[in-house]
Amino acid sequence: MSVVETAPSGASPADAVASLAVEDLHVAFGGNRVLIGVDLNFTPGFNGLIGPNGAGKTTVFNVISGYVRSTQGGVRLHGEDLLHMSRTQRVKSGIGRTFQAPRLILDATVMENTLLGRHHLFRWGHFAELLLLPQQRREETEARQICMEMLDRFGLAEAAHEEAGALSLGSQKLVEVARALVANPTVVLLDEPAAGLGADDVTVLLRGLREIQAERNLCVIIIEHDLQLVTSLCPKISVLHFGEIISEGSPEHVTSDPAVIEAYLGHGFEAEGGGEIHEVEGPLSEHHHIDHVEEEGTLEEVWIDDDGTEQEEPS
Ligand SMILES: Nc1ncnc2c1ncn2[C@@H]1O[C@H](COP(=O)(O)OP(=O)(O)O)[C@@H](O)[C@H]1O
Ligand SMILES: [Mg+2]
Repeated sequence: MSVVETAPSGASPADAVASLAVEDLHVAFGGNRVLIGVDLNFTPGFNGLIGPNGAGKTTVFNVISGYVRSTQGGVRLHGEDLLHMSRTQRVKSGIGRTFQAPRLILDATVMENTLLGRHHLFRWGHFAELLLLPQQRREETEARQICMEMLDRFGLAEAAHEEAGALSLGSQKLVEVARALVANPTVVLLDEPAAGLGADDVTVLLRGLREIQAERNLCVIIIEHDLQLVTSLCPKISVLHFGEIISEGSPEHVTSDPAVIEAYLGHGFEAEGGGEIHEVEGPLSEHHHIDHVEEEGTLEEVWIDDDGTEQEEPS
């Protein structure tokens, strides 16, 4: 059996059912309204989600993947309602994600971290694992091959047996992408995957993502501050500002939309022919941080448990 896995393809952007549809999301933390009626539709291919820091982008991902509850509205994956599912059920349904700050087990190896992405696919449970039954061993061998192949695509094969904590931040972020992809998602949410990466790692990241997207007809949704990157990668971009979608469409459309220029890009920003973006002078640099890695600590305040039960709302 080949270890090269390909998800069934055949869906096209013209399909009536979007890969992922979110409808009327509302989230508030205390009195702070963070999402105010967000509607988004995503189809296979690369979809960009941009907007200033604090706009609510990560919160959109948290609602989709089950880390934060929207008080109303819906999230549908290939038409199936996700809102009442636990995080693990959503992963099994095909939602993959990475975090703005990588969440790896730092004293486990790169391979072990990547294998975690396969865990929900194991047919043989812990009992078989204890007994080391042949089926279980075959399954593990196959999982390791799939993980190694994925790590290799992201230039990490040689680091497979190193501790994740010994890797640079950029490499750790690539491990997270690999871990998300070995889970066989149909929709993958990437939260600033290029932030903190050197130019070589960005090249490796983009090449790997493009290949896998094409092979599996994946729906990739990417939050990204680097406009050059996002406009060259994503034929469709949605712009979030203070919890509302203010513009949506092609790179040319959103970068020339007065609402986006006013709210996000600043007046010094010009989009020229072919969607090439030239920063003249403007406030984008304020938004162009890679220094909000600490910020994500708030995710400990997860309040949908893995079994789907709600925990106390964070104060
Ligand atoms: N778990 C949380 N608890 C309290 N406030 C939060 C939490 N998550 C996000 N926020 C707040 O919600 C707003 C949007 O955050 P976020 O979705 O992370 O924005 P973005 O990813 O666009 O920078 C910010 O003001 C942030 O401080
Ligand atoms: Mg964010």
